[in-house]
Amino acid sequence: MVGLDIGSKTIKAVELAKEGDGWKLLASGVIGHTGDSVEHIKEDKNIAALAEIIKKLFKEARISSKQVAVSIPESQVFTRTITFPMLTDQEIESAVKWEAEQYIPIPLKEAIVQHQILERRENATPPGVAVLLVAAPRSLVEKYTRVVQLAGLTPMAVETSLMAAARALAPVDQTVMIIDLGARSTDMAIVKNGMLSFSRSVATAGEAFTRAVAQTLGVEIQQAEAYKRTYGLSSSQLEGKIKGALDPVFKMVTDEIKKAIHFYQTEEKGDAPKAVILSGGTAGMPQAVGALTEMLGLEVVVGNPFAKVVVNPDAAKSLAAFAPLYSIAVGLAERGE
Ligand SMILES: Nc1ncnc2c1ncn2[C@@H]1O[C@H](COP(=O)(O)OP(=O)(O)OP(=O)(O)O)[C@@H](O)[C@H]1O
Ligand SMILES: [Mg+2]
Repeated sequence: MVGLDIGSKTIKAVELAKEGDGWKLLASGVIGHTGDSVEHIKEDKNIAALAEIIKKLFKEARISSKQVAVSIPESQVFTRTITFPMLTDQEIESAVKWEAEQYIPIPLKEAIVQHQILERRENATPPGVAVLLVAAPRSLVEKYTRVVQLAGLTPMAVETSLMAAARALAPVDQTVMIIDLGARSTDMAIVKNGMLSFSRSVATAGEAFTRAVAQTLGVEIQQAEAYKRTYGLSSSQLEGKIKGALDPVFKMVTDEIKKAIHFYQTEEKGDAPKAVILSGGTAGMPQAVGALTEMLGLEVVVGNPFAKVVVNPDAAKSLAAFAPLYSIAVGLAERGE
């Protein structure tokens, strides 16, 4: 199975094969694109152009399977936890069908709704079953399916990006927060014992960091991008000028992270996450881990989606740049359906 993560700036693909209890990496690759994100594409010719880039990626990365699982961006998805009384799985399934309308902001006939039982709280007062509802606009799912088919591939599954990231990165015996720091969006999930229990997306990420450097220092976007990648949040470089430009944006992002944790703890009565696991391109920003650790007061690590994957040196080459870029693609490939 191939996991395909079509980001707003880069497209990532990972091909895995089952090996014993684990996985083996067969191929992987990343390619940049300058077109619109799938959700913003209106014209068919732009869908076709994106499909061509995906074809090119599969060819260059020497991916052999045509069966793909594709992710849809968290910003386009609605997730919410609801508590039902102690019903059976089957009863919950029909309750979701009948009651979803009141919980999700899209008309039911225009949405694809899935649910997942998170926890049966038999000893709580009152006892109840926590259920995660996930809803995505049907038209968007169809658009992703079309892009994949136009690229000559067979869509086997569509999943939200954080569900995929959680599969690749989250431990099964703890509550952690996963943060995917991309180009346009910062996506956050709280994952309890391997199950996604909460998610939120904020439209501030890598591009906003670059713009802040360009504006504050009065340099071109390309130069700003290079400064950001080289110096990041380091205070000892260029007299801390880059850090100074990045700080206000960084604070905005960390405030949103804190708010999300607070919401999860108060509204959803969840445990505080024990650690934060980062993924996405912006996770590679110098000093990002240190600065986040300080701002959040939590342990912060950069995730390695290949920790449970056997990687031979040949296949590893393309990963050398930055493995956490592939978290979502790895999680998708691990769906194994
Ligand atoms: N070393 C680095 N330091 C800082 N930022 C980096 C570094 N490497 C990549 N980036 C940033 O990462 C972003 C791209 O990351 P990624 O590929 O995860 O985004 P995407 O998936 O295309 O976007 P999104 O998920 O928001 O749609 C760009 O904004 C880029 O500037
Ligand atoms: Mg992304």
